[in-house]
Amino acid sequence: MNRIFSGIQPTGNLHLGNYLGAIRNWVRLQADYECIYCVVDLHAITMPTEPAELRANTREAAASLLAAGIDGKSNILFNQSQVPAHAELAWIFNCIARLGWLNRMTQFKEKSGKHKDNASVGLYVYPTLMAADILLYKATHVPVGEDQRQHLELMRDIAQSFNSAYGVEFFPITEPLIMGEATRVMSLRDGSNKMSKSDASDYSRINLTDSPDEIAKKIRKARTDPEPLPGEVKGLEGRPEADNLVGIFASLADISRADVCTRFGGATFSAFKDELAALAIDTLSPITAEMRRLMDDPGYVDGILSDGAKRAEQMALPILAEIKEIVGFLQR
Ligand code: TYM
Repeated sequence: MNRIFSGIQPTGNLHLGNYLGAIRNWVRLQADYECIYCVVDLHAITMPTEPAELRANTREAAASLLAAGIDGKSNILFNQSQVPAHAELAWIFNCIARLGWLNRMTQFKEKSGKHKDNASVGLYVYPTLMAADILLYKATHVPVGEDQRQHLELMRDIAQSFNSAYGVEFFPITEPLIMGEATRVMSLRDGSNKMSKSDASDYSRINLTDSPDEIAKKIRKARTDPEPLPGEVKGLEGRPEADNLVGIFASLADISRADVCTRFGGATFSAFKDELAALAIDTLSPITAEMRRLMDDPGYVDGILSDGAKRAEQMALPILAEIKEIVGFLQR
């Protein structure tokens, strides 16, 4: 059986990178897999969060997934904190994972900044909770953007280490699915930084809540270099901003970077940007409109999440019971 699990943090400012790197793939995978998608609110509190904002962001993330085409009825969409088994398994994994493994995590280094002693312990063990999310359902595949690759390698180490510590073949060796031409969308202001929810400049990213005018303006202002577009992919080397915009176009149009170069080779950026903006607006506007509609109906969104949580828990509890048996816990 093939089962997908993936998650997104409810930290606001969902952007084009989240959409092209993850959400759009999640929507497509629904045709071939049993899918479990999770708004990871336990992960969100690893950094300081306002309760009211967390609640609003959780609904907003769920609304954007539904608006993008996640089917919360035939698949599962829920927020993590409604299924306590995630936190229970994360504890067991905290006792499997080694300090040395966590010390290598680049995301912790980035997020904790210069003052590591002030980072929450939760931020440090973030990847063990992520491993628990996935393995609690024995998911076989995890669709993510490139930035999550290291976390998924750690998840596989934890699975293997658990299996060998207890002499069992219990957890599957789960595969990452890093798909498409936009696995790492970069900031529109700086081609060497990833597009991110936390970038101080709103011009660095296209938010899923942006209006068509905002999208057009951000693309027009996106940083480029003075050369025209290359006719071949090789010509994108050493040109991170050009490469990023070509990658975004390719992904939005569902074609390859090479196709984009063939079509636009020799064109100026201003001509290319007009077409890119039109394409981005065409893709995102219907999602934004549906998202707004859903945001006005929080009762509906909450209902999907709690129904999803119940079904997720039904899948998780028997697996967690087996894990507890393997570990040697006495159970009711
Ligand atoms: P998060 O919330 O940062 O991002 C959600 C998804 O969006 C992808 N992504 C990007 N893809 C391409 N370009 C970008 N600039 C970009 N920025 C973000 C991410 O790779 C991700 O797939 N730790 C995870 C959440 C998580 C999770 C899990 C994921 C918790 N438990 C279990 C998979 C399985 C995170 O912070 O994603």
